[in-house]
Amino acid sequence: MRHVLVTGGSSGIGLAVADLLLERGDRVSLVARDAERLAEAARTLSRGEEARAGRIFIVPADVADGEAVSRAAEKATSRFGVIGALVASAGIVEPARFLEQDAAAFDRQISVNLTGVSNSVRAVLPGMRGKGGSVMIVSSGAGLIGIPGYSAYCASKFALRGLAAALRAEMASAGISVSICFPPDTLTPQLERELPLRPPEAQAMIGRVRPQETAIVARAILAGMDRGRREIHFGLALRLLGYFGPFAASYFDLRRGGRPRTG
Ligand SMILES: NC(=O)c1ccc[n+]([C@@H]2O[C@H](COP(=O)([O-])OP(=O)(O)OC[C@H]3O[C@@H](n4cnc5c(N)ncnc54)[C@H](OP(=O)(O)O)[C@@H]3O)[C@@H](O)[C@H]2O)c1
Repeated sequence: MRHVLVTGGSSGIGLAVADLLLERGDRVSLVARDAERLAEAARTLSRGEEARAGRIFIVPADVADGEAVSRAAEKATSRFGVIGALVASAGIVEPARFLEQDAAAFDRQISVNLTGVSNSVRAVLPGMRGKGGSVMIVSSGAGLIGIPGYSAYCASKFALRGLAAALRAEMASAGISVSICFPPDTLTPQLERELPLRPPEAQAMIGRVRPQETAIVARAILAGMDRGRREIHFGLALRLLGYFGPFAASYFDLRRGGRPRTG
């Protein structure tokens, strides 16, 4: 019975991960900004069972604020003991073509999606040292291929792969596994908000991949974290992008009618 801190645990993928963790008897601490939505998530997750409710702790914090997320981790530790695993799922997306997006919206996505993850990792790693632990970082298919209208989101999600790789190398000797996953479009409230803002050229590129069920993504994330897998990929196209990176990306470019570069 582990204590798992789930950022973004009040909605979507984070909420589905928390549900699976509770199902198998773990204790979960959920971090997100909106206290009411956190309370609602706790009610949903408890399913009216006192024993289940007793294994849920909610703590509002903005992951972009390093001190706030560290305080949240301290409160969670006081409630349920050492945090054995982190699922860093909190994230935002604000699609817009680069020159049509103001700098503040660009920076916001970097602060939450990249700095927010490093803040969350920094908040839990000291407690794991000497005991081992697991970190799961939620990136995106947009962390494997550039998508028009997603410059800030892609930048933040690509960067997470570098963060995960460096952390993994640093933490291996401490028995702390660092995993990263790259989900495709997933049926969550974020996707509902995002789709009307998605530029048509992005939809033409992404729309070929069918959105995944949240529970399926959550199950793959947990299975990957349990096995200490480095990277979790979904579907053939994203798997090829994950394994063969820029080579696969140029293949998809050609299929979209792009021209091979000649120099
Ligand atoms: N849905 C997809 O198609 C998809 C695909 C690939 C990757 N992802 C990634 O998966 C993760 C979860 O996405 P989702 O679709 O489940 O989104 P979601 O349903 O909108 O849930 C996002 C969660 O993150 C929290 N959050 C957002 N900003 C935060 C902040 N600054 N500090 C703390 N918590 C914050 C939200 O709560 P508050 O707003 O109350 O803070 C909410 O609990 C994200 O990192 C996303 O980029 C999603």
